[in-house]
Amino acid sequence: MAKFIGILTAGGDSPGLNAAIRAVGKSAIGSYGMQVIGFRDGFRGLMADRIIRLDETTLSGILTVGGTMLGTSRDKPNKMWVGDKILDMTEAMIDTYHKHHLDALVCLGGGGTQKNALRLAQKGLNVITLPKTIDNDVGMTDMTFGFDTAMSIATEAIDRLHSTAHSHHRIVIVGLMGHNAGWLALGAGIAGGANVILIPEIPYDINVVADAVRQRSRAGKNFSIVAIAEGARSQEDTEQWQTSLKAKATAETKKQKKQAKVILDELGEQLTDNTIRLSRELEQLTGLESRVTILGHLQRGGTPSAADRLLATRLGTACTSMINDGVFGVMLAVQGERIVPVPLEEVVGKRKLIPLHHSWVETARLVGISLGA
Ligand code: F6P
Repeated sequence: MAKFIGILTAGGDSPGLNAAIRAVGKSAIGSYGMQVIGFRDGFRGLMADRIIRLDETTLSGILTVGGTMLGTSRDKPNKMWVGDKILDMTEAMIDTYHKHHLDALVCLGGGGTQKNALRLAQKGLNVITLPKTIDNDVGMTDMTFGFDTAMSIATEAIDRLHSTAHSHHRIVIVGLMGHNAGWLALGAGIAGGANVILIPEIPYDINVVADAVRQRSRAGKNFSIVAIAEGARSQEDTEQWQTSLKAKATAETKKQKKQAKVILDELGEQLTDNTIRLSRELEQLTGLESRVTILGHLQRGGTPSAADRLLATRLGTACTSMINDGVFGVMLAVQGERIVPVPLEEVVGKRKLIPLHHSWVETARLVGISLGA
């Protein structure tokens, strides 16, 4: 019977993390008589043994609070900056786990966290994970907590930008998060009534975007809202990106691989510039004035929505039930109405992108939204 459990939050913060920590903690203590500790700042806290005791007092009053009470980081167990070196600190984490006589380690995070958790599971630790990210791109689960809140924030922003775009007869470009997957931009774009939505899954043609804006002008609507995910690229940029990815994958020497990585990093850093460039190009092609609003981390901040609190609480309580049953090496996924354990091996490496024939894509097209291609 599990008695001692540890919990950590890793990767970018996300609304609903505290609700999940609370649900794991409260149900573990209240329903199963377990003791719970939290590790500060993700895998770094596990490595450095920085803990916080989670009890009725520390778990109280956090349900509605954004961020994570434990802190988070993007550290990886096997490649961690320690002083001025990058080291494999997995063994230090295993020592901390055993020092506290843990029976289970709960990791809350996105795709990267699932990968890191699998590494620890493969070293023999009893690991169980929950899927969180505002990007909603974790494989094998219909939904991640944080997404609903971020989509509401982004939708409200698009709502508000309508009146200023309309008043000034401008194109307003709204930059939304979503490095690899366009769920947030597509969901908020449809809900907020954006006229053009650009997502990483559909490389765009600037002329198609400009045509959509011009058509609106011809119909007497002298303003347009363009919602663009941060990872959306033009067709030309996508070609360059794919060539560099291929070069990295097929590199024969370390030097070639490094060179390809440098190009990929540069292309990644240019994403914000791409949005600004899109604005300039649209001005030239349409003759309309354009403004850019990049929502950035605003989308991750603040109190979680009711749906995210509910989802995080359901996942958290399902998690302690699994621990009590001795089910480990899994991520708890939402599949339809059910929460099911999925082996971490089946989750890792399966980023959930938007299928091109997904109903949201078809819905967007059917209401006349241009997807840029
Ligand atoms: O992983 C979620 C996410 O919000 C991405 O959409 C975004 O690219 C990234 O985090 C940025 O996070 P940070 O600036 O905290 O590294």
